[in-house]
Amino acid sequence: MSAAPRAGNGKVTVPDMLSRKQHSPAGFSGATQEPKPKITCLTAYDYPTARLLDEAGVDILLVGDSVGMAVLGYESTLPVTLDEMVHHTRAVRRATRHALLVADMPYGSFHVSLDESVRNAVRLVKEGGAEAVKVEGGERRIELIARLVEAEIPVMGHVGLTPQSINAMGGFHVQGKTSDAARQVERDARAVETAGAFAVVLESMPRDLAARITEKLRIPTIGIGAGPDCDGQVLVIHDLLGLGGERRPKFVRPYANLSAEITRAVTSYCDDVRSGAFPSDAESYHSAAELREQQLVAQRR
Ligand code: KIV
Repeated sequence: MSAAPRAGNGKVTVPDMLSRKQHSPAGFSGATQEPKPKITCLTAYDYPTARLLDEAGVDILLVGDSVGMAVLGYESTLPVTLDEMVHHTRAVRRATRHALLVADMPYGSFHVSLDESVRNAVRLVKEGGAEAVKVEGGERRIELIARLVEAEIPVMGHVGLTPQSINAMGGFHVQGKTSDAARQVERDARAVETAGAFAVVLESMPRDLAARITEKLRIPTIGIGAGPDCDGQVLVIHDLLGLGGERRPKFVRPYANLSAEITRAVTSYCDDVRSGAFPSDAESYHSAAELREQQLVAQRR
């Protein structure tokens, strides 16, 4: 397994991400600050995609447990195993030179005991080459996040809609829509920060709630379905490329339509093979002229 590249030479680090907070909370710093470039984050699950994203300058590559739905064909993220996460993280690690590599802790890998959770996170770092892990949940994860940070593992929190809670939440619903629910999401985000996370994903919540949380926290917020006021944005790469399923959430902007492009290419290939147009003579290897000549002579005898 290739080791994580060292800081320097454009390598994105956890302290870099902390320094990209758009503004300090009220009273934290009196000085007027220059706007900083927003943090870009995308999911990646394999070597060639990770290489393209890294070369394009994405700040954070997230090996999300969305791999379960985007790549492995599961109905939800719940069946994704730690071994699968390690496997995909290793592939992304081999391709990543500049981006910060964050791996998701999958469902079940941090729900039994703190000791086991730390051991599982260590596997993502040691075997997968992750530089940080992401953990879903807010107030309930305070102890876990503190233990991981104590074990030198930077943690990205994830509050609002947490897909691993799909059964408890009763589906993929926008969170924080009542004042009580909004207060809970805010408490969750604060808890994650207090526990020592270096950033937090805010998923599927009203724009004004995400803006308020972003304003109050000292760590950067990375939004998905949380409006434009967060310190950064994340999308599932398959959604961005138009490779996702039929149902596209409102917050997804497809920047390409690769499904159509792949279908077009594969249909043309099948047509060409069936008609004999592929491969052409130019796409074939040839024996040396001398050998062909000898074979012709032998055939004539
Ligand atoms: O698993 C994932 O890809 C995620 C992001 C969408 C935030 O959690």
